Amino acid sequence: MNDRLQQYISRIESSHNLPILPHILVKLIFACQDENGNTRELARIIQSDASMAAKILKLANSSYFRSTGKIVQIDQALIRLGRNAVKNLAISSAVHQVFNKSDAVSNGFDLKRFWRHSLTSAALAKMIAEKAAYNLPEQAFLAGMIHDIGRLLLATKFPDEYKAVLDGAEKSGETLLEKETRTGFPHTEIGAWLLNRWNFDSMTVDAVRYHHEPAARIKESFPLVRIVYAANDLSRTTGSSDEAFCVLKGLFPCTFPDTVEMMLQAEQEVQELASFLGLSIGEKENPSSEGERIDIQTPELVNEVRNFSLMAGVLQNLVACPDENAILKTIQEGLAVLFDMRKVIFFLFDPEDGLLKARVVTDQGRVEFPPGLVISKYNKDSLINRSIQEGHPLSSLTGGESEKPAILDEQIRHLLDCEGIFSLPLVRLGEKIGALVAGVDRPEEKALMREEKLLNLLVCQASIALYARWNA
Ligand SMILES: [Fe+2]
Ligand SMILES: [Fe+2]
Repeated sequence: MNDRLQQYISRIESSHNLPILPHILVKLIFACQDENGNTRELARIIQSDASMAAKILKLANSSYFRSTGKIVQIDQALIRLGRNAVKNLAISSAVHQVFNKSDAVSNGFDLKRFWRHSLTSAALAKMIAEKAAYNLPEQAFLAGMIHDIGRLLLATKFPDEYKAVLDGAEKSGETLLEKETRTGFPHTEIGAWLLNRWNFDSMTVDAVRYHHEPAARIKESFPLVRIVYAANDLSRTTGSSDEAFCVLKGLFPCTFPDTVEMMLQAEQEVQELASFLGLSIGEKENPSSEGERIDIQTPELVNEVRNFSLMAGVLQNLVACPDENAILKTIQEGLAVLFDMRKVIFFLFDPEDGLLKARVVTDQGRVEFPPGLVISKYNKDSLINRSIQEGHPLSSLTGGESEKPAILDEQIRHLLDCEGIFSLPLVRLGEKIGALVAGVDRPEEKALMREEKLLNLLVCQASIALYARWNA
């Protein structure tokens, strides 16, 4: 431990009001680690904490679990909610009790995002643990929940210094950990120190200590470190890139649809956990938002969950496609179901002559090659070529009014009978596969922009599927 870190730790110790690990959490950890532990013991522990017991009974009696009989006993709640669900609720509640005094946290610290991230990491860590057949999924849940506890301790104990670090990291472009390390208090070390003090097992302490190490180093670690690492990474992903998936894949055998499924499930669990804890956790993946409480019944959320469920189905189908035509049909179906995009032309590079050649999927599901619909890669004026070269989507509706569109783009627009065209590049590992060109009208284009992440996810997976076919 370096001198500056030691100084900060001495300051925390001398403040004499170090957060205390709730006694109930210690008991819960033991009870949860005992796979065969009886339900009565778990019920007894929960009953010893009046506020936790009340929350669990309230949830068991909520309309969500439509049932006739009113539940008054925790052991009945365990049966209705499920033993595993109650374990998660109880652990979350106990951890939340440690740091629920938000007024002690500095201004610059976004507590809502912190809890959202912690709950998401917990839910994902447990799911990854189960997929990896790790025998202590509750330990993974808890480790995911507390992996950033060092940040909370720093924000509570050194509000002004930590606010300066948060502000500085934003301005300098350094990562938070880099800035913390330069200041002398990396949250990974502070968190590990606190958990050591609380006599946590060394595997959990290590999972906290190493959660920002380079992925290559993590590959050679014991499972809990890898699980928490992957969960933290995955919980920060926007879903528009497959970066986190690659990290996950490098650490565990896991398919992309599995990952999407886990992210969907985690999002639902986070909503339930947050509502159970009475926590306001802000909106998902929106750094600029200060975050308002999301009601689980809001149409937006229902819509989001619905869309992600549909997307998971499309991705599953993509993986199972036997050939290129099947992939194009699946993409077209996905675009129609998810984005109401029905007028689409695929332009794919022909490896023989390097030309972009069109394919369309007919209403009867046949893939056709319209004769003459070919674009040379040297046609630099075409928005389609530009979107492929620049590697990002381009819309003819958002271009400058003064610029005259390329005739070829105009012709495709006429063909699709729309106000504009929207070109989404299909690129995988630097390899240019082609573009997906959709006909759009102005209101549709605005709606598409709102669904950008989901659209990117589909296009990214479409590229992976086509690339895999090319190289099969
Ligand atoms: Fe962290
Ligand atoms: Fe984190």
